Amino acid sequence: MRVRKAVIIAAGKGTRFLPVTRSLPKEMLPLVDRPIIQYVVEEVLTSGLSHIIMVTSRGKSLMEDYFDRIPELELFLEQKGDGERLEEMRRLSDMIGIHTVRQKEQLGLGHAVLTARDAVGDEPFAVLLPDDLIDGETPCLARMMAIYERYGGSVIAVQRVRDEDTRRYGIVTAEMVAEKLYRVTGLVEKPAAEDVPSRLAIVGRYILSPQIFDAISVTPPGKAGEIQLTDALEILLQKEAVYAFEFDGDWYDTGTPLGWLRANLAFALKRPDIAPELEEYLKGMNG
Ligand code: UTP
Repeated sequence: MRVRKAVIIAAGKGTRFLPVTRSLPKEMLPLVDRPIIQYVVEEVLTSGLSHIIMVTSRGKSLMEDYFDRIPELELFLEQKGDGERLEEMRRLSDMIGIHTVRQKEQLGLGHAVLTARDAVGDEPFAVLLPDDLIDGETPCLARMMAIYERYGGSVIAVQRVRDEDTRRYGIVTAEMVAEKLYRVTGLVEKPAAEDVPSRLAIVGRYILSPQIFDAISVTPPGKAGEIQLTDALEILLQKEAVYAFEFDGDWYDTGTPLGWLRANLAFALKRPDIAPELEEYLKGMNG
């Protein structure tokens, strides 16, 4: 069965970004001049999916507003003769019809995925976490969908991280089956230094078999008392194959101020209208 639906998980509290997340969802923080959520929506669309389900929570409705039409703004730009901006505004509002599902209590990423069960139904689906931004030639999700079509099972995105960073991620143990592709044999969420099985860290892109919902339903709270998707995948693994795809492309974790700043710099330095002056400025800062 083909993957048709993408679930964007954006119901987290964003405590690492307090105080700004008191009133602004972290997914609405800008990377240069567009919010993080837009990049992940564009990744879904360029991967060929158009059915998007967003898992949100209280205070996150700004994200839905962002993709809405703003007729008075369009009229203003039209009267001003700013055709370029007008076209961009129309492109944005035509982009998607978003179906939202609310996670009423933040009980963890696994639980957030489970709240999308009715909206997804009994079919394989994609899951994307907006914090993880992947910039590459072919969208990471499109590559994962191709792997799913060939191998079946579930597919998770991974990257090799430094030893000292393994405690921040879900880590997989796996056997190589092809270049950059592994069959997962075990998963552990944020392992303690003495239990780290490998340096392959889970990044926020998944193609999941619908069996994951049953697995989440029987997953007890794990790290931080939350229902972890990693733990549910460990349960799923007993029944079905799970593959790990080590993707190419630049990966940014925008869920912390430092990671977000890095991503902003990298994206700004790729913008021809901004890069030359920014480079000058940065050179000046280095003395
Ligand atoms: P994080 O671990 O980054 O948590 O969630 P968070 O709440 O977003 O941010 P911090 O750690 O408090 O700063 C990983 C992903 O899971 C989602 C988040 O929105 C993010 O996409 N999530 C997490 C939920 O949707 N619900 C939850 O209950 C927990």
